[in-house]
Amino acid sequence: MKIHVWQGDITALDVDVIVNAANEKLLGGSGVDGAIHQAAGPDLLAYCQRLGGCPTGEAKLTPGFNLQSRFIIHTVGPLWKGGEAGEAEQLASCYRNTLALAESIDARTIAFPAISCGAYEYPAEQAACIAVSVLHEPRPEGSSICEVILVAYSSEMASVLADAKAGR
Ligand code: APR
Repeated sequence: MKIHVWQGDITALDVDVIVNAANEKLLGGSGVDGAIHQAAGPDLLAYCQRLGGCPTGEAKLTPGFNLQSRFIIHTVGPLWKGGEAGEAEQLASCYRNTLALAESIDARTIAFPAISCGAYEYPAEQAACIAVSVLHEPRPEGSSICEVILVAYSSEMASVLADAKAGR
């Protein structure tokens, strides 16, 4: 599995799956959630309204609608509460559950935003290390995933992700 760091708007990527950093209501919001709903169009919200939300750490699949990507996987990251409330395990679960769901639809390419690193205020360096360590875990035999793109929306985040990927 190749891992790349890329800086820009995740909705511009032509990959099999883009990942949304959603909230438990799964009815849109600001940040990357807002951008994905904006780009996917109103059919995404209508579809999400039938999903009944998503618990923190879990992931749900929708079509990509007007996006270039065929699918969106919505995952709900933890709100940072200081690090003693199981946030690291919940964030790792977001990446693990999203990868497993992507494999269930034979996705080959997937792009992740920096889950929880915006409104949910997760410290970027810690979050990036968790993302990279989950991506380095062995995948099941026959996993479809060939390429993972870690998307940064700022140059600061891009260097944090690059450092985590390089093990710095
Ligand atoms: N493309 C890629 N990354 C983006 C984009 C975009 N278009 N917009 C924002 N980001 C980045 C942010 O800069 C941040 O690094 O995504 C990361 C995650 O930030 P948020 O989108 O705020 O997500 P999160 O911290 O997980 O908080 C989720 O915010 O938007 C609401 O509905 C969402 O309630 C949920 C909460």
